[in-house]
Amino acid sequence: MKLAVVGGGSTYTPELIDGFARLRDTLPIEELVLVDPAADRLELVSGLARRIFAKQDHAGKITTTTDIDAGVADADAVLLQLRVGGQAARNQDETWPLECGCVGQETTGAGGLAKALRTVPVVLDIAERVRRTNPDAWIIDFTNPVGIVTRALLQAGHKAVGLCNVAIGFQRKFARLLEVEPGQVHLDHVGLNHLSWELGVRLGGPDGENVLPKLLAEHGDAIADDLRMDRRIVDRLGVVPSYYLRYFYAHDEVVRELGTKPSRAAEVAAMEKELLAMYGDPALDEKPELLAKRGGAFYSEAAVDLAASLLGDGGSPVQVVNTYNNGTLPFLPDDAVIEVQARVGRDGATPLAVPALDPLYAGLIANVTAYEDLALEAALRGGRDRVFKALLAHPLIGQFEYAEGLTDRLIAHNREHLAWA
Ligand code: G6P
Ligand code: MN
Repeated sequence: MKLAVVGGGSTYTPELIDGFARLRDTLPIEELVLVDPAADRLELVSGLARRIFAKQDHAGKITTTTDIDAGVADADAVLLQLRVGGQAARNQDETWPLECGCVGQETTGAGGLAKALRTVPVVLDIAERVRRTNPDAWIIDFTNPVGIVTRALLQAGHKAVGLCNVAIGFQRKFARLLEVEPGQVHLDHVGLNHLSWELGVRLGGPDGENVLPKLLAEHGDAIADDLRMDRRIVDRLGVVPSYYLRYFYAHDEVVRELGTKPSRAAEVAAMEKELLAMYGDPALDEKPELLAKRGGAFYSEAAVDLAASLLGDGGSPVQVVNTYNNGTLPFLPDDAVIEVQARVGRDGATPLAVPALDPLYAGLIANVTAYEDLALEAALRGGRDRVFKALLAHPLIGQFEYAEGLTDRLIAHNREHLAWA
């Protein structure tokens, strides 16, 4: 089995490699190609990756290339984990929206739109190259904003599934609190990428007993603290929102807070410098502790599970992924991309049925889906007016003056990445 990782020079890659090494029985990789335009990073990251494989007696071969066509050639699956413009572009996404009193975040609100506009054309170009060399290859998209990027891929007819670590993070956390194996915990996870709620937590299988009320009664404080949300939010909803809902439920508080500290991109850039220095140390042969300070915990396990199901029979039969709605949430178009539990196999992902949703969640999901629709239009076709409309449609923006100010700033800060600007 051959896997390619586009964005393989990411400081996150050792997390992935660690998962590939530990879970080699689930996903037997013979060749892993790390693809990245940054040759210096590739060298550092692949050096550590090889040492991690060697330490764990993994016989898989790790190669590197800056040539995307060569890298994806004959791969059975291609993982996309790239960030167009790097942390510098992310820093912009997190900064200029604050000038308009709006949240500055890389996947939500105006910053998320900027990221979508930079990213969709690049990802579509890569996917086209994958299809040319191997039309059967699966594309696993970690690249944010995952909902919009996955929709772009599916609309262009690619074999793609979108993936995020939010659900697996909850699964692991709840399993710890319940003192059961993670595989025993099934989440009634509903929504869009980075706009989701755990409506139930079931033991033993997707139809098992719902222990969420018990979990909230016994561990409500720990769960709310982890989300950095007021416990009252969780209690009043009686469900667990993902931490990205904080940007909605506590928007003004978050904006005030973001104005008083360095951006997450600045923090991450400092960590990356330190990480890369560590990766260059020939004595290091495991993923460093520092990596746990990044948001991507367990993403390697989610990737292994998904790839194992798409390429064989090794993965969990039901996983939380991003895929076409196809009637699952009847108030959304079929071709909206949703994030829910799905049956996953060689033919891809098919969402499990979802019971009728409370308007409290359905309303926001429908609103953000409409935004995503307009965002994808803007990413594919460009133009100031399309950017403006997407921003106006976003529930965190909504006002004409905000949308105007944000449109100008988005274009000014991203000109070098936007072919039409
Ligand atoms: C979580 C999200 C990812 C996001 C990451 C950011 O893992 O699910 O989509 O990329 O956080 O983490 P960072 O350490 O870069 O802030
Ligand atoms: Mn994510």
